[in-house]
Amino acid sequence: AGNEARALLEAAGRLWARGGALDRAALAATATRVPVPTYPFQRTSHWPRRPGAEPLVRRLDWRDAPLTTAEGPRVVRLLGGDGALGRALSERLTERGVTVSRDDAGHPGTPPDTLVWLSGGRSAGSPPPLDALDAATKAAVTSLRDVLDLLPGDCSRLLVVTEDAYATGTANPSQALPHGFTLALPAEHPGLAARGVDLTSADELRVQVDALERELYSALEPGAEASVAWRSGRRLIRTSAAAADTPGELPPEGTYLITGGAGGLGSALARDLAGRGACELILTGRSETVPDDLLADLRAQGARAARYHAADVSDEAAVHALFVDLPPLDGVFHAAGTVRPGTLRSKSDTEIEQVLAAKVRGTVLLAEALRRHGQEPAVCVAFSSVSSVQPGLAGALGDYAAANAFLDAFAAAERAAGRPWQSIGFGPVSDAGLAAGSPVQSRWRTRGLSPMSTQAAITALRTAVATDAAHLLVTVPERSAQAQLPPTATLVSRPVPAPHRPSPT
Ligand SMILES: NC(=O)c1ccc[n+]([C@@H]2O[C@H](COP(=O)([O-])OP(=O)(O)OC[C@H]3O[C@@H](n4cnc5c(N)ncnc54)[C@H](OP(=O)(O)O)[C@@H]3O)[C@@H](O)[C@H]2O)c1
Repeated sequence: AGNEARALLEAAGRLWARGGALDRAALAATATRVPVPTYPFQRTSHWPRRPGAEPLVRRLDWRDAPLTTAEGPRVVRLLGGDGALGRALSERLTERGVTVSRDDAGHPGTPPDTLVWLSGGRSAGSPPPLDALDAATKAAVTSLRDVLDLLPGDCSRLLVVTEDAYATGTANPSQALPHGFTLALPAEHPGLAARGVDLTSADELRVQVDALERELYSALEPGAEASVAWRSGRRLIRTSAAAADTPGELPPEGTYLITGGAGGLGSALARDLAGRGACELILTGRSETVPDDLLADLRAQGARAARYHAADVSDEAAVHALFVDLPPLDGVFHAAGTVRPGTLRSKSDTEIEQVLAAKVRGTVLLAEALRRHGQEPAVCVAFSSVSSVQPGLAGALGDYAAANAFLDAFAAAERAAGRPWQSIGFGPVSDAGLAAGSPVQSRWRTRGLSPMSTQAAITALRTAVATDAAHLLVTVPERSAQAQLPPTATLVSRPVPAPHRPSPT
């Protein structure tokens, strides 16, 4: 029937092109009208809406995932292996006949086939004190540079080992940064398979070494699950499930702070809120230029007050100044973020740190300021990205993926501590914001994602906010790729089960 209708429409089109008289009213009776832009022509597709093209809100969780045993490594280079874990792992592998080199030992003549980056540090708690956070961020970037220096060569496997990145009672969100970098490395080094392995300080050293040994003697294919967590001998991977489709109501007359509020998604959210009630909106961004037209628009749409405060959220003094005269907040939407495409190898440490700043330092400063100023908004949303969890999207965006991985881990830790943070990982948005007009749309599609409109993203955001989960995704599955999508595609909605009380599977 589809082919016949198509043939009929094509014949009608040809007739029309040749000047034939058509009864267009009859033709239109069964058709859907698609509004297209008037001049100047915008190069944007306006396809009819298909069922299933709306964004899906998915909550992320962890589930047990068995390993497939495989041949192990022959030569392993341990980076950051001078601590107890590095020594114990080195001993275990040496017993199995593997040649191991550590930072503090000599290097074997044979180049390593496997690189193990032991990034675990002392748990800093959530939120981490600012100086500890800065030191951890710097250390992650410095070690990344060491990894990049070691990667060319025969190395085909990279294991990035962290500790307490994902909330288990003891949380260290900055440990999620190496996981984010790891997502981009296979795209930068074709043939490399990389995996992040998160251990917990609640497990004994022997249990941690067992876990790493099992990972090293398992199949690690390029594109395989990018992050796993080991808790009490259980191996867990992320899994996602549809959230109930119940759009939540934010108080229509509430007071909301939107960082990045003059940007694509931030301003769309502000307009949405203004259109629903006499709310008060405070928008921030680094730019000193006040977005007068946007503010006028927000007032015209119904906001009882709308103002802009220039503040770099990664600057402690600026955040303090922002909070000094804030009214009691009902919600914080942290949409500030930057993206600067380029491989990790091609960027300087400073460039990487600039991409991390708004989401890493900025988030911690916001959380601290909320506490210090006695603000207890019911809603605290961090705008994250699907690139922090789905392998293959982070190529040329490794620092951006790391920044968002931090947000995801931070929200999980905060929620586990009873504070209402939520990280929402958006898929690409086509008509505004930092991904609009992106030349990599084909990469998204081959990875199973269709771009969505800003309005659709904001509508889905309301559903996400009404969902009791620390980590959610808002994406539109690409229709042709739906069947190929692994059920895992993403993140964490609840903390990993507590190690002392394994949950049923
Ligand atoms: N658009 C998408 O497809 C997409 C997909 C997934 C996730 N996201 C996330 O959604 C959020 C909003 O993205 P968008 O598309 O709306 O991007 P956008 O249009 O570039 O807006 C981001 C805003 O953040 C502000 N900003 C950047 N760094 C800041 C800082 N240190 N302090 C304060 N403000 C800062 C920028 O303003 P100034 O330059 O004036 O500071 C800008 O207006 C981002 O966090 C992004 O990662 C977007």
